[in-house]
Amino acid sequence: MRLILPLPGNETLARQLAEAGEWELGRLETRRFPDGECYVRILSDVAERPVDLVCTLARPDDNFLRLAFAADAARALGASQVTLIAPYLSYMRQDRRFQPGEAVTSITFSRLVSSTFDRLVTVDPHLHRYPALSALYTIPADTLHAAPLLANWIAAEVDQPLVIGPDEESEQWVSAIARRIGAPYAVLRKIRHGDRNVDVELPDLSQWKARCPVLVDDIASSGHTLIEAARKLQLQGFRRPVCAVVHGVFAEDSYRRLKPFTDRIVSSDSIPHESNAIRLAPLIAAAIASAEMAREDFVRHRRPHEPTAETKQAEMQSIPASVAPPWTSGVE
Ligand code: R5P
Repeated sequence: MRLILPLPGNETLARQLAEAGEWELGRLETRRFPDGECYVRILSDVAERPVDLVCTLARPDDNFLRLAFAADAARALGASQVTLIAPYLSYMRQDRRFQPGEAVTSITFSRLVSSTFDRLVTVDPHLHRYPALSALYTIPADTLHAAPLLANWIAAEVDQPLVIGPDEESEQWVSAIARRIGAPYAVLRKIRHGDRNVDVELPDLSQWKARCPVLVDDIASSGHTLIEAARKLQLQGFRRPVCAVVHGVFAEDSYRRLKPFTDRIVSSDSIPHESNAIRLAPLIAAAIASAEMAREDFVRHRRPHEPTAETKQAEMQSIPASVAPPWTSGVE
């Protein structure tokens, strides 16, 4: 049976996945040594079974090493397949060298993940300049889409919505959502001058003024994109918008700064946050279950298990006492 193993902070999603698929929920112990290095111990039996490590990758610099240690431990202890369930996949936005000399971190990060796991399951990765994860990742990667879930939420909670994407890149999901719920949509034009400095231009949306604007984006990080879009909507006489995002990264105090410009902010639970209103567990569990059927024999990093204490002991006893191990063979 599959083992769903959460990294710290991912327990709720892991429990929901385990319940949805009737899989076992595993336990992992982790802490920091006094020098800041991390300690990882898997407390569940992983031998001969597929193991799903659940770890969203917001703030990856703090979390990724611990995750890699857990993946290696699972494999060394005999897991038949080690999958990363990362509903938010980080380091997707630095996808080219915008300034001379910059590191293209999406490439390096994909190499680290691909060499650590057999398979990746994620939700709406920021694929703006890459056509698909397979252009970056060398392991099978399931890309799931939260747009239908966002659409359902909007249809249930917002009367007379006007679905709005804050930049041209958002047209893909904004148009899909609008189609699904039979609402009009508009796409704004964004010019980014820096990490915390964006301009948003609005077309003339006056014909939709009676509707409730719903800003939909894949990521809210510094919040500046949504703040600028909401400000410009107000200047055109719209009421305060509802904001619906897949990944609520909400860096620093961005959530507090964004709130006054909006009527309501909701996100999927790809990153635990007080704005979470859209559950991803059913979507992810269904993907795991179908992939389980399709590729249950697929293992990319199969290695011999680590010998247990008993096998080591037995091996030692099988060496005749008169045969000195090679490393004690004396001076050449
Ligand atoms: C950009 O292409 C994305 O779709 C988001 O609009 C962007 O990542 C949001 O970032 P921030 O909240 O920092 O403006």
